Parts: sequence; C-alpha cells; structure tokens
Amino acid sequence: MRHTANDRRRFLQFLAASPLYAAAWAHAQRPELTLETVDQAITLLDFEEAARRVLPPAHWGYMASGVDDDQTIKANRDGFTHFGLRPRRLVDVTKPDLSVELFGTTWDTPLFLCPVGGQRMFHRDGEVAVARAASAKKTLQILSSATSIPVEEVAKTLTHPLWYQLYMPVTWDGTERLVKRVEAAGCPVLVWTIDLLGGRNLETAERFRRADTRDCSACHSSPRGGRAIDQLPMLEGIKGGMNPPAATWEYVDRLKKLTRMKLVLKGVETHEDARLAREHGVDGLIVSNHGGRALDTGRGTIDVLAEVVDAAGARIPVMLDGGVRRGTDVFKALALGARAVGIGRPYVWALSAFGQAGVEKVLDILRAELQMTMRQCGTPAIKQITRGAVTS
Ligand SMILES: Cc1cc2nc3c(=O)[nH]c(=O)nc-3n(C[C@H](O)[C@H](O)[C@H](O)COP(=O)(O)O)c2cc1C
Repeated sequence: MRHTANDRRRFLQFLAASPLYAAAWAHAQRPELTLETVDQAITLLDFEEAARRVLPPAHWGYMASGVDDDQTIKANRDGFTHFGLRPRRLVDVTKPDLSVELFGTTWDTPLFLCPVGGQRMFHRDGEVAVARAASAKKTLQILSSATSIPVEEVAKTLTHPLWYQLYMPVTWDGTERLVKRVEAAGCPVLVWTIDLLGGRNLETAERFRRADTRDCSACHSSPRGGRAIDQLPMLEGIKGGMNPPAATWEYVDRLKKLTRMKLVLKGVETHEDARLAREHGVDGLIVSNHGGRALDTGRGTIDVLAEVVDAAGARIPVMLDGGVRRGTDVFKALALGARAVGIGRPYVWALSAFGQAGVEKVLDILRAELQMTMRQCGTPAIKQITRGAVTS
C-alpha cells in the first residue's frame, strides 16, 4: 500500500490532537533542570532530582516511597487533576492577601511544613535548618516525634511558636512524660498522628535499603543502618515503643485532660471520624494519609477533603497535606475548605540539596505560585476562595 502526502498529513494532524502526543510534546519542551545552585530552581519538582543526586539510596528510598505498591502516593497527585479552576475576571487583584488565622495566630500564608522524622538523614543541620527557614519565611513548622534534634533546641531556633507532632508512646506513663516535656518547651499545639496505629509495610524503602551496600556504622549503631525507636531524642528512656494499636477515641479524651495545648488529629480521611473528632472536642484536623506512607490504595487527600470539612463543621479548622506541589494545588485545597495546606517531601528535597536556603526557596516558589493563582482567579483574599472557585 502506498502512503500519499495527504495520508501523512492526516496522520500528523491526528497525532497532534492526541493527549498522548500533547504530553510527550510538553515533556520534550521541559527538559529536567540539573540544579547547581538553589536560585536555578523554577518550581518545586526541580528539587526532586537534586535530592536524589545527593542522598544515599537508603535515605532516598525511605523518603520517596510509600507502602505496598505506592499507589496512595499516586492517588494524592492524581486527585488534584479531578478539580479544575473557575476563574472570575475583572476583580481588583493588585493587593493579594495570603494571611490566615489558626488558633489565634495570624500567619503570612496558609502554607505549613509537615512533620517529617529524622531530618539529619537529609542534611547535617536537619530540623534546625528547617526552623531557620521557617523563621525567615514566617511559616508554620510542625516538628515530628521522630525528630533528630530535641524539641527544646528547635523551639529555641524558631522565632515563632512550634507545633509538635505526637507519635503516642505505647505506655500512658510515656505519653504523660512526652506531652509534659513538649508543653514545657512552649509548643501551643499538639498534633497527634493517628494513621500509623495499625502498622505499615514500607516495601519500596526496604528494597532501596537492601540495594544500599554502604557501611553505615559511622552514623548508625549497625553497619546496615536503622535506629532503635528508644534512641530517638524525644523517646529516649520511654519504654515499649509508640503507636499503641489499642488506642480509641477514649484516648482523645485522656489527651485533652492531660494538656492545655490545642489538640489536632492528623490522618483523618472520613466524615465518620471527622464527626467523632468534633464530638470529642478536638480542636483541629489534618486530612492526611501520611503522604501515602500508611495505607495503600487509599483515596487522594484532596478527594476526601470536602467530606471531612462538611462533617467537621465550621468551628474546627481543617488542614490538608499529601501531594501538594503547586500553587494551584494549594488553591484547590483552600477552595474545598482547608484552612492551611502542608508540604512534606518538597521541602525535604530542597533541604537535602541546599539546606536552609533550599527550604526558603521552596516556600518562596509555592507562595508566588499561590499568589499568582489567586490573582488569576479573581480571589485576592484567602476568604474569597470558596467552592465556587473549583469544578466538582
Ligand atoms: C520521609 C518522611 C517522613 C515522615 N515522617 C512523619 C512523621 O514523623 N510524623 C508524621 O506525622 N508524618 C510524617 N510524614 C508524613 C508528612 O507529615 C506528610 O503527611 C506527608 O509527607 C505529606 O505528603 P507529601 O510528602 O506528598 O507532601 C513523613 C513523610 C515523609 C516523606
């Protein structure tokens, strides 16, 4: 069979119209940046490859992976494509105001830095480098219970209040000691992560760990790496480990009685649990699936946000994290009812490659992207970003 010039033209026209071609074309136009300096970064994803280059395989694998087949990580990203933006025109957007209020404190932006454990695995200054960046950018930082630097030191570095994420010790005595210590360090908010009480299967991370043949004795007690839980600075001397599988809503009541700190639950994904949280007097919620690191084949956090917001009611602020990489992602979460929006891996990529300066750059980029989206959508103040701003 002979192909005429017309056939070829029709085939090329067909290709040009196909989404696959469009994706391939877009990719070809966007070669990956190899970052030599922090200023070369254009967007958050540019830091991913920079981190991969500097991190040992076991550390990279631990950070980048999820559980089982890593499908919840994908669901978190895909979720943002389920909503489109509905821009309103001819609104005065000369002075965008990104500030939000949380428990009486006003923040410059609705962005926050999620709790991520063991940050000296990524940079020698770990959580302190992040605190310096958070201070410079006046951004909320939540410190992990698995922090590699004690809460007192990080709180001292940060120029505004530090929130603390709780992995509950298995013994109540351990919980009391830890919560009192955090309170004494001046933290106003305790964020109890409740999505790891059932355990998890870090399969991809384990594959990376096995592929990493270095001798890790210089930093770890074993040449194969890893760290016993009771060697973590915040869990030293606390016996029995953390994340009691026996925990129920009664533990929320006990925690509320134990501390004057505001209590936020991290890891809520259903309207049933949001309603129970409200009934038990919880002060705030974070819609999160631990960045796809707890349960696989879960739903994307942005897909469950509205369900949780509606059940939580107006009194309880709801925050979100999981797969947030763009200002448009932050905007969609705000539109669906989030009061604040968190990032995990993106700031860890930047921390790994460039330390404090990297984290600052990530916050600058995300803020600029959000501001641009707010302008484009005709919603110059956060309160104006409502459900009407997105398709459902
Ligand atoms: C390497 C790593 C360690 C984490 N450690 C904790 C932790 O100690 N406590 C916690 O509540 N969440 C932890 N998370 C989950 C984050 O707080 C957050 O929910 C998640 O990273 C958000 O998704 P993203 O990474 O796609 O932005 C961790 C996440 C990563 C990637």
